[in-house]
Order: sequence, then structure tokens, then C-alpha cells
Amino acid sequence: MSHLPISPAAPATSPAATDASGGASRATWGSRLGFVLAAAGSAVGLGAVWKFPYVVGQHGGGAFLAVYLGCVLTLGVALLLAEMTVGRLTGQSITTALHTLGGRAWAWVGRIATFNAFAILSFYVVVGGWTVTYLMRAFTGSVLANDTQRLVTEFSAFTANPVASLASMGVFLGLTALIVAAGVQKGIERAGKWLMPALFLLMLLVIARALTLPGAMAGVAWFLTPDFSMISGDTLLEALGLAFFSLSLGAGMIVVYGSYLPRDARLAGSAVWVATLATLACCLAGLMILPAVFAFGVPPDAGPGLTFITMPAIFAQMPFGHAIAIAFFLLLLFAALTSAVSLFEPVAAFLIDEYQWQRGPAVLAVFVATFLFGAPAALSFGVWSDVRLFDRTIFDLMDYVTVNLLMPAGGLCIAIFVGAFIWPKARTVLDGSRAQWFVPVWRVLLLVLTPIAIFGVWYQTF
Ligand code: PHE
Repeated sequence: MSHLPISPAAPATSPAATDASGGASRATWGSRLGFVLAAAGSAVGLGAVWKFPYVVGQHGGGAFLAVYLGCVLTLGVALLLAEMTVGRLTGQSITTALHTLGGRAWAWVGRIATFNAFAILSFYVVVGGWTVTYLMRAFTGSVLANDTQRLVTEFSAFTANPVASLASMGVFLGLTALIVAAGVQKGIERAGKWLMPALFLLMLLVIARALTLPGAMAGVAWFLTPDFSMISGDTLLEALGLAFFSLSLGAGMIVVYGSYLPRDARLAGSAVWVATLATLACCLAGLMILPAVFAFGVPPDAGPGLTFITMPAIFAQMPFGHAIAIAFFLLLLFAALTSAVSLFEPVAAFLIDEYQWQRGPAVLAVFVATFLFGAPAALSFGVWSDVRLFDRTIFDLMDYVTVNLLMPAGGLCIAIFVGAFIWPKARTVLDGSRAQWFVPVWRVLLLVLTPIAIFGVWYQTF
């Protein structure tokens, strides 16, 4: 297994953590908190603050929220636990773990999941780049503007400018690569202990302002009152995909974290914690953006720019808005980086494990490949906006295929693998847990609800 360590908090050795390929052992997390923080660091990111509000905006508010929460609470928690279990039982990352437990054929699920992580990273860095640019603009103060029309124009001009968008994407990707190359994920995740709560608190502060804007309550009502007539197959698919995306599920991320868990850690509780933090981040972001969207008269279905158009207008209406804007974009950048690192790392680890690459060249190769793969996505907001496949821009298509199709497909394979193929072993991870009632429930969620939900939603859509 690779040595791109995901930060064991205190290096103790677990007997389960013996590495199949190299024989070296993985250190385990010193505490459950360390694990929850690292997994939540992967989960909480642009998915909550950037993607969630605009997707809710496009899909009719409260009803979408209800479906999303339903997905998280059922298959989300079950799959978090399933991925942790695979990591916990093997001490390995997804491809080697599936190989060890299930043989050669299952390793392909791991390879596809790793490719998916790479593809997600390629469009994630585009939005990461927007965060970098908005942080710069927050420093200069140029981001603060009351006039949402001006903010829309500025956002479009920036994302349409090939040099600016590729450069900011490059900076974000470069920061991610540097963190992985330097192996400082551990420090970064520890910092999450302070920075994640700080982001949550700041969001609460912004919510307080957003809710007192004239007209904001219409947005709150729209966000929280389900109108189930708004639900179509497409809405269900987006909610399902978003549940996977916001929990970092279906691409093998959580397997890696699970591999560092100490023997006595309570897995089910950890899964619930990660799900809660990720969902909380989404709901806070929704409460921050959507009321403001209504108050400022921005169309809720404005698309991927929604957060970047709305936030500056709220800051402009806040006392100390300039400082708050800087703090917000800094914390958002941090959250985005911890997620990007969790996507980058398994891809580099794959080259190291499967092809025995050195770490430096592996990181460089992933950097270059991600840049090349991500560039068309970045350009699809400008010079290549006319390039459309299946009626979508390149960015939208990458997002759609990876998040709505490949992530659920990965999750489905893992659910069946854990619930059927390795069940006798898998269930032992809950031995000694107080939540014994959850053992059969978990299996039903994995083998019945997850396949029905995923196939059902795909069937509705296609
Ligand atoms: N969950 C992350 C976010 O919301 C994105 C992500 C998806 C990270 C999949 C890792 C794996 O920003």
C-alpha cells in the first residue's frame, strides 16, 4: 500500500493493518475524533457550499431537500459504514482492499472508482480555482458589491476568460498537489479541528444577516417547504448524486479513512457523525444562500455560479463585510482543499501501488493529467461553451456522469459486496456495538434499499 499517509493521529499499529503489497503496516488513528475529522474534511467542501445551494435552486427547493435528506439517512449512512468496513477489515485502499477480500474481478470496481476520483477532481479544481480568485478579490475588496447584476457579469467574465480560469484552476490544483507531495495531510486534518467549526460559525453569522434581508423569508419557505409536485426523475437523480457527492461516497475515499481506524472504534457512530457534519454543512449553506437569492432577486436556478454571485452581495450588506469575506473564502478554500486532497491522494497512491512509481513523479503525473483533463471543463464556461454533448457543456457532462452515474454505481457495487459477498466478516465490525438492532437494518439497507433506490432512480430518468 502506498505511503501517502492520511494522517494517523497517533501511530499505533493495528494487526488488521498489514499491507498486502509491501508488508508495511498502516498506523491507525489514535482517536475516533481524528477519523471523524479526516472523513468529514473530505466530505465537507465545495459540495456543500457551492453545489448544494445551486442544485437545490434548480430543483425546486424543499422537496429536493427532503429527498436528499432521505438518501443521506438511509443509503448514505449504510454506505459510509460499508466503505469504512472494507477499509477496516483490510487496512488497505479500495483497489487492493477489494482484491484482498473479493479477488481479481472486484479489484476492477476499485480501479473504476479510482478513475472516477480522478475525473471528479478534474472538475472540482475548476471550482476550487473560483474560490482562489474570489479570495483574492476579497483581499482587494473588489468582491464586495451590492449590485447583483454586476456580480453576475463579473462572474461570467471571469469564468469565460480562459487565462484567468486556467490560472486559478492551476493554483488550486498546485496547492492540492503540494499538500500531497509534502505529506502534510496530517497537519491539515488536525487544523480542521478548528477550521471546520470556524467555517460553520461563520456560516451561522452570515445566515443571521441573510435572514434579515427584506424578502429573505420567501427563500426560507421555499427551501424548507416541500412541494412534491416539483419532483421528477431528474430531481431524484440529482438528489441521489448529491448525497453521494456530499458524503464523498462511491469513489473509495471513505475506505481509505476506514483503514486507519483503531480496532475499538465505534464504526456506526462514526458514520453517523460524518453524515451529520456533511449534511449540516449543506443545510447551513442552503440557509445562507437561498434566502439571499430571493432577497436579491437572483433566479434560484442560475446554475453553478449561484454561491459566487450571492455571497459577495451579502457581505456587502454586513458590518465588517470586508473582513468576513476574507475569512469566509479562506475557510472555504481550506474546506475545498481537504476534499481535493482526498480525491488526489488515492489517484497518486494508485500509481505508486500498482506501478511502483516514486511519490514525486506520481504526484506530478496526477497534477499534469488533472490539469489536462480539467482544462476543457474550465474552458466550457467560455471559449468552449458551445461544445455540447447530450445537451450539456463539458463541465456539466463531467459532473453528471461522475456524480450521478459513476458514484451511485460504485456505491451499489460496494453495497452488494459488503452485504452479500463478505457479510459474515463485515458484520463483525459491529460486534460489541450497542446498536445490535442496526445489524439487520444495515443489511437490508445495503441489499434491498440501495439497489432499489439506485435502479429506481436511474429507471425514472432514462
Ligand atoms: N464531498 C466533497 C465535497 O462535498 C467532494 C468529494 C467527493 C470529495 C468525492 C471526495 C470524494 O466537496
